[in-house]
Amino acid sequence: MEKIPKILLESLSNAESVVVLTGAGVSAESGIKTFRDPDGLWAKFNPMELASVNGFMSNPQRVWEWYQFRREVVNNAQPNPGHYAIAEMEKLFPQFTLITQNVDRLHQRAGSKNVLELHGNIIENHCFKCKEPYKKEIDLNSKELPICPLCGAYIRPSVVWFGEMLPEYELSKAYEVSDSCDVFFSVGTSAEVYPAANLPYQAKRNGAFVVEVNPNRTSFSHIADVCLTEPSGVILPILITEYKEYIKGKK
Ligand code: OAD
Repeated sequence: MEKIPKILLESLSNAESVVVLTGAGVSAESGIKTFRDPDGLWAKFNPMELASVNGFMSNPQRVWEWYQFRREVVNNAQPNPGHYAIAEMEKLFPQFTLITQNVDRLHQRAGSKNVLELHGNIIENHCFKCKEPYKKEIDLNSKELPICPLCGAYIRPSVVWFGEMLPEYELSKAYEVSDSCDVFFSVGTSAEVYPAANLPYQAKRNGAFVVEVNPNRTSFSHIADVCLTEPSGVILPILITEYKEYIKGKK
């Protein structure tokens, strides 16, 4: 029995431009914890201490060690079938953009190319003060907080913290593609953190067919045209298979 509503397959078959927005839920099946689920990171850790400029200024060592721990988790994780399915989607449509809030780079490791990282990534680092990229390799076993060779200030991970601006190019491109796409997927995100959470609404307002992939309901579910309520690593590979069958049947 088909699991994907025909209206979605039909919308995809007519789509020139497809956008996928992802959040932490996509990486859950790779063993990386989400933020707001009951066992998520923000249930155990305080985001204002660990993911804000003030948190870093008051205790840079603590923040650095927390990111070292998260890097180790990411380093030992592998992309899951959801990441691979999204990478495959990029080959199926004339225009495709992946917008991610994830900092783990698992999409790229699965083969996604056209990726806008809205919240940066935890692989790269730069100087807290002069912003110069820090290129030296980081030893994951070391707790030592590196110092900028140019200005002597502390090095920080290249993620976006609470209270910081999102990268300008990525954000404006994300709005542009969301405004003009035919089908928009919101996958594995609670859609609680702005401005990323604006994007599904923006797409909907501009006439896109909007799909949510999330086992749980979110504040955005009620405006989605279709909600696929299974884990992304389960349902996205099925979507790809059914879509390819559908296209063959149309020819
Ligand atoms: P959240 O933790 O807020 O939401 C994760 C969502 O994934 C929830 O709605 C879950 O129901 C869903 N989910 C869990 N497992 C899933 C699965 N296997 N398949 C599909 N969905 C699943 O994470 P984000 O929405 O990514 O920002 O959070 C947004 C931002 O808040 C993050 O980028 C981070 C955080 O604070 C910064 O650090 C700046």
